[in-house]
Amino acid sequence: MEEKAKIILDGKTFEFPIIVGTENEKAIDITNLRSETSYITLDNGFGNTGSCTSGITFLDGETGILRYRGIPIEQMAEKSTFVETSYLLIYGEFPQRQKLDEFAHSLKIHADLHPDMLKFFDGYPTTGHPMGLLSAMVCSLSGYYPELLNTEPTQEDIRTTAAELLSKVCTITAYTYKKSMGEPFVAPRRDFEYIPNFLHMMFSSPHQPYKMMEEVVSALETVLILHADHEQNCSTSTVRLVGSSWANLFASISAGVCALWGPLHGGANQQVVEMFEEIQKAGGDIQKFIDRAKDPKDSYRLMGFGHRVYKNFDPRSKIIKEKAHELFAKLGIHDPLLDIAVRLEEAVLKDDYFTQRKLYPNVDFYSGIIYRAIGIPTVMFPVMFAIGRMPGWIAHWKEMKENSKSKIGRPRQIYTGERVRDYIPMEQR
Ligand code: ACO
Repeated sequence: MEEKAKIILDGKTFEFPIIVGTENEKAIDITNLRSETSYITLDNGFGNTGSCTSGITFLDGETGILRYRGIPIEQMAEKSTFVETSYLLIYGEFPQRQKLDEFAHSLKIHADLHPDMLKFFDGYPTTGHPMGLLSAMVCSLSGYYPELLNTEPTQEDIRTTAAELLSKVCTITAYTYKKSMGEPFVAPRRDFEYIPNFLHMMFSSPHQPYKMMEEVVSALETVLILHADHEQNCSTSTVRLVGSSWANLFASISAGVCALWGPLHGGANQQVVEMFEEIQKAGGDIQKFIDRAKDPKDSYRLMGFGHRVYKNFDPRSKIIKEKAHELFAKLGIHDPLLDIAVRLEEAVLKDDYFTQRKLYPNVDFYSGIIYRAIGIPTVMFPVMFAIGRMPGWIAHWKEMKENSKSKIGRPRQIYTGERVRDYIPMEQR
């Protein structure tokens, strides 16, 4: 017999279907709750609300599981590339060699920016945050590729838009960096693969090609793979919500970039390193910062700790921590901030305040340390996250678009304002 949830309201029993996912996660389908009962549910921060069904990423925060299209994140990080991961997330299956080559080629041929777009960089203050520019430029791509704005895009339209986005986001990032450094732009190279091409645009100069190091490419590959998707997080839900109005992919992803920018989400990696620097400046006294974070009267938080869904450990942080140590050992770098990170992590994991609240290091705790070692400035860390998250956003937008049952997102509210009252003329206020 089909399992049903019973809800008793005003003495009357209502039944709602139970939905069971592939991994046995269960939900009460309340699609008809309001029409049948006139009640809505209230769920601040959507901690208990499923906004969709999705076949892209599975995560279990209690046991620290993360899988892309069924493949454990540990295997993806060890064996895959960011380009292959992007294909898997967006198209649902591993590509055969020829398909992967075609996909990688499409990323190479779409890397150039329209010459008019280069003028954007002149119009944006060098001190402006790069996430603002990234969001504006991603949205502006819609002006340069109007043929991709169909509200009913074909598979070919989606393929081209995805390639434009995955590819151009690297060029936009590298040019933003060059502009901030007062250096000339370095054009993308079609003979380079995705990550080497990004590093080349970032760090080559007209007279000095960037010295490509396998360890750096591999570390960046891992970090981007780990960030590639994380199901219905704040930015991905934003992409889906904006896209649910049939807004085009460029506009939807531009909104996702803005959602990611916040320090509680993708902006955390920047804040983590700034926190390490602050601790360093304060003479390395980590306890002072821990005490501040524990003080209920102080809103200060230790950045890089805690996660809405991971309540035991973040599987990505385990992988990224090893990668950071490996990179530093191979490059022979000694970064005092890494020492601070290690000491802080050790102290927090022993502290009852954090263990009772299930606050463990998240992926951003170590990602910034890796970016720093590569030479990426702190202010660009959230942009790096956006490059990594691009395939996830595209995959979710595409999945939503292809689901004939998708509806425009429109939550309800419980109104707590004034009851009806009369307009008050100016002289009586
Ligand atoms: N430092 C100190 N205390 C914390 C922290 C932290 N980093 N995170 C949560 N807490 C405390 C809260 O003060 C609260 O304490 P209380 O119960 O005494 O009031 C309790 O833990 C629960 O916190 P919530 O905010 O309810 O937890 P939520 O699940 O909503 O927040 C979040 C998750 C936003 C990630 C939070 O842990 C945080 O702010 N972390 C720091 C920012 C960060 O690292 N963000 C990156 C997230 S990962 C990513 O986006 C890739």
